[in-house]
Amino acid sequence: MSIEIRVERPKRIGAHSHIRGLGLDENGKAIKVADGLVGQLKAREAAGIVVKMIKEGRIAGRGILFVGPPGTGKTALAIAIARELGEDTPFVAMSGSEIYSSEKKKTEILMEALRRAIGVRVREERAVYEGVVTSIKVRRRRHPLVPYMAVPAETRITLRTKDEELTLTVGEEITRQILELGIKKGDLIWIDAETGRVYRVGRVKGVESARYYDIETYKYVEMPSGPVKKRKEIVRTFSIHDLDLAVASQRALISFFTLGVEREIPPEVRKEVDEMIKKWVDEKKAELVPGVLFIDDAHMLDIEAFSFLSRAMESEFSPIIILATNRGIAKIRGTDLESPHGMPLDLLDRLLIIPTKPYEPDEIREIIKIRAGEEGIKLDEGALEELVAVGSKTSLRYAVQLLEPARIIAERKGRDTVKAEDVIEARELFIDLKQSVKYLKEYEEKFLK
Ligand SMILES: Nc1ncnc2c1ncn2[C@@H]1O[C@H](COP(=O)(O)OP(=O)(O)OP(=O)(O)O)[C@@H](O)[C@H]1O
Ligand SMILES: [Mg+2]
Repeated sequence: MSIEIRVERPKRIGAHSHIRGLGLDENGKAIKVADGLVGQLKAREAAGIVVKMIKEGRIAGRGILFVGPPGTGKTALAIAIARELGEDTPFVAMSGSEIYSSEKKKTEILMEALRRAIGVRVREERAVYEGVVTSIKVRRRRHPLVPYMAVPAETRITLRTKDEELTLTVGEEITRQILELGIKKGDLIWIDAETGRVYRVGRVKGVESARYYDIETYKYVEMPSGPVKKRKEIVRTFSIHDLDLAVASQRALISFFTLGVEREIPPEVRKEVDEMIKKWVDEKKAELVPGVLFIDDAHMLDIEAFSFLSRAMESEFSPIIILATNRGIAKIRGTDLESPHGMPLDLLDRLLIIPTKPYEPDEIREIIKIRAGEEGIKLDEGALEELVAVGSKTSLRYAVQLLEPARIIAERKGRDTVKAEDVIEARELFIDLKQSVKYLKEYEEKFLK
């Protein structure tokens, strides 16, 4: 039996919350509308191949670049890749502009992101007591200093499996955890026999005199079989960055309260962690899980960052780097050189490029319907067509952004269905990028003489 303990998983939601995956069939062909995605078939199939390469660990030293006009689903596809990879593979998302921080060096920010994107899966055999709580009694004693107060002293707790029942008496520390976790009858728990840590796994139905609610905060699980005290394989996935922080704080190089906030991790700590991981891997105590570092709007990176990334791709511990940009020929930041996508050629040489194309009106209609459903907004035919027209003429993103303002406008008129007139009103209040530039130009001519 194994248990997975996740440490961290940064998520981007909001505008892409409707995306569940790449929507491919078992042969890797894109289904027109599936998993919240619509159209963009070739790019989705390419992304599917990338997912397969990542899962098979065959993409080291390479990167992916999504290129396409604004609003064509580059970010959406990267999110879909993350969903396909599942909980087990680290996925770190950042925007190119995030490297410009006042507290940390650009390369430190990238280094940290790279190390967050690589998992270290550690397997451990531990002795545990595991069972469903069938009885629990906390004994209190008088507070040593405040005589009228009682403090929990010990607990008698009975754990049951399908085959055995065992009553344990546990001391103050475990009692404190039991109270903190709110452990009650019917909970399946385990207690680490060596460290005394208590974990709650879920709820088991049918325990006598346990209270069950219609909505439980913990999922229902099966009653385990076998003895209560057993050896159990525990699998934990840390990121290399988690280990960096752990080692740094152990060495008191970083205090707990400033963890990762402003301080940089000293290079000798990273070296030590690398060696530790290599040793674990050699001894088969751990395995590496290379994940994904996704850098959106990658044209915001500068020459220093690009050369750092090129080097990182060659290093021993490297996640898969996925970049996205909507720039054609542009200046590489930090230089006067123009280059495709504003990136140096030696980096571009290492990237597999996936293009995304503008949508057809039918696809825009489908996407707007999905987004409206996701945001719980009712559109009538006219409103939908108006939004499709907006999306084709300006951008899909602008059309999607108008949904919520249009809903509020409709609501103020006492309607719960959005009509074309509400969309038109929203468009007048919130203009798109082209209009705003035009507007400012007109005023510039009038005022700034
Ligand atoms: N094929 C698709 N199916 C469903 N939703 C999509 C699809 N493509 C884009 N979207 C949605 O449309 C909106 C705009 O797309 P997205 O932000 O991914 O574009 P982008 O290519 O990253 O644009 P930019 O270059 O401006 O960053 C998002 O809400 C996104 O989730
Ligand atoms: Mg984007």
